[in-house]
Amino acid sequence: MDPAGRPLPDFPEPAPLASHGPARIIALCNQKGGVGKTTTTINLGAALAEYGRRVLIVDFDPQGAASVGLGVNPHELDKTVYTLLMERGVSVRDVVRPTAVPGLDVLPANIDLSAAEVQLVGEVARESVLARALRPAEADYDVILIDCQPSLGLLTVNALTAAHGVLIPLECEFFALRGVALLIETVEKVRDRLNPRLQIDGILGTMHDPRTLHSKEVLARVREAFGDQLLHTVIGRTVKFPDSSVAAEPITTYAPAHPGAEAYRQLARELVARGDAA
Ligand SMILES: Nc1ncnc2c1ncn2[C@@H]1O[C@H](COP(=O)(O)OP(=O)(O)O)[C@@H](O)[C@H]1O
Ligand SMILES: [Mg+2]
Repeated sequence: MDPAGRPLPDFPEPAPLASHGPARIIALCNQKGGVGKTTTTINLGAALAEYGRRVLIVDFDPQGAASVGLGVNPHELDKTVYTLLMERGVSVRDVVRPTAVPGLDVLPANIDLSAAEVQLVGEVARESVLARALRPAEADYDVILIDCQPSLGLLTVNALTAAHGVLIPLECEFFALRGVALLIETVEKVRDRLNPRLQIDGILGTMHDPRTLHSKEVLARVREAFGDQLLHTVIGRTVKFPDSSVAAEPITTYAPAHPGAEAYRQLARELVARGDAA
């Protein structure tokens, strides 16, 4: 059984890939902060890389948490995702950094990105600036994960315009569903007006505590409202996640045998089995 009480299918280990690309682009979105977007981006990316996928993480939050969590200090870089968006002649390959995880690269962000929200307003085709900037990298990767900031503003609309799919991390706590309707409405607007290929890949329960009644209730309500869009994989609450962020590495290398690492490997296998990742 999965934590929502449904039979848990067996998600097989993904077959090795003979060649790489074109990438499927997944935006990790929820306008609520602290729900596990960055943690999921880092650890899903690392798990997919373990399975031999070439993965690019796009840090699309001026806080730079995805960059820092992967051991890249974005505050001393002069080329970041901001330069990629705003300066002509900067290519994605100039900005990408390797991480300590083989096959996993990051496009770092820092506080400069907070200015882009305002500066992009005056650009031609302002919603598709990120999509255009990522295009030359699509052939090099199997999966591109975009770690969105907690807002539904123009940067997030850029992420949704660039993406094939949206993954929505949802903290298993009582008010988790507040705001999800608005998020889904935004996804639908972007699909209608800008990006017809956009789909919702799934809703991921995070910070689940099987001992609490309300964790169970939240999953039951999400299942009722969203059916099979609720992924079978649910991420448990454990201090190993903040610990591994402090160590600036994914849980899959920080504590490879921990159930939290195994949960993100299962998420990677589930997404591959659903056809949402290569
Ligand atoms: N499953 C989890 N269990 C315990 N703590 C978690 C879990 N997932 C994330 N966290 C912690 O919660 C905080 C917010 O998570 P984060 O991924 O940064 O959320 P977001 O990117 O949505 O703001 C971070 O300190 C992170 O380490
Ligand atoms: Mg974040």
